[in-house]
Amino acid sequence: MILIPSDLSKVIDAAWEKTRDVPGFLLENKARFVGLLAACTPAEGLIVEIGSFKGRSTVMLASVAAHYGLGPVVAIDPHNFNLSTTSTRPGPSTLDDFLRSLHTAGLTGQVEFHHAFSKDVGKSWTRPIRLLWIDGDHSYTGAKTDFDRLSAYVNPHGIVALHDSLNPFPGPIRVFVEDMLRSQKCGGGGIRAFDCLAQYRPEDGQKFAQRRASLESRAKHLIPLVQDGPELHGLKKLRYKVSRSRVPRKPQQPAVTLFPISGACRQSLCLRTTLEN
Ligand SMILES: C[S@@+](CC[C@H](N)C(=O)[O-])C[C@H]1O[C@@H](n2cnc3c(N)ncnc32)[C@H](O)[C@@H]1O
Repeated sequence: MILIPSDLSKVIDAAWEKTRDVPGFLLENKARFVGLLAACTPAEGLIVEIGSFKGRSTVMLASVAAHYGLGPVVAIDPHNFNLSTTSTRPGPSTLDDFLRSLHTAGLTGQVEFHHAFSKDVGKSWTRPIRLLWIDGDHSYTGAKTDFDRLSAYVNPHGIVALHDSLNPFPGPIRVFVEDMLRSQKCGGGGIRAFDCLAQYRPEDGQKFAQRRASLESRAKHLIPLVQDGPELHGLKKLRYKVSRSRVPRKPQQPAVTLFPISGACRQSLCLRTTLEN
């Protein structure tokens, strides 16, 4: 059961005020959704972020976690940013900017920071996780390694979310389809904006089988189109766009259109529908 704290809207508004000036790629609606996941994931354990860049999502997560006493956010990044999965050359370090962002937001003490590759942190990981937010290496090997090494520690009813799943990267969408939608231990997976997520439901994942299969039947067509990397051209690009447009990414929630409710509550209702129906 997803519980929505009564002060959630205010808390996410306040977190967004701290997040908005942090350089990064996360748009406001996605940043707010990440904050919502931090606040509402109904499991014990840590919030773990793979891929922090200059701290935009980290500030959102840590701000919400601090308010609700959810412990330090674990943030993992080697800080040699490289968005293109076809390039292997490290870019300039983002470490100083990341640390400055935490300091400016007053959140340095709320973040357990690992200046490292996720595969190395994952090798010796043993602690339970409530929310695993994967936004690091978007290659298939990168996303799969992140999923394999850390999802094993996600507690029942915890959530795994993969950023950029509906952008043309090979890793996130393939892991979502093959490892989450095809797993009998996952609840009803869903897609909010361009991020895929699913809840770990080892005891009753079977009851979501039909729903997962229906999402899989649409999402799986994206996998071969992006397997060679994000550069899509011509017919392939068109096929990708058409296939992507067929992937349902907003659950139906008639109540949302009938009642004037705040953005955070609206998103929470969608989260409930995404994971529980
Ligand atoms: C798209 S950015 C993350 C954006 C960030 N979440 C934000 O809100 O702005 C991807 C980040 O993943 C990091 N990264 C790439 N490979 C990684 C890996 N193997 N382990 C951890 N982080 C990685 C990069 O250094 C980069 O900072």
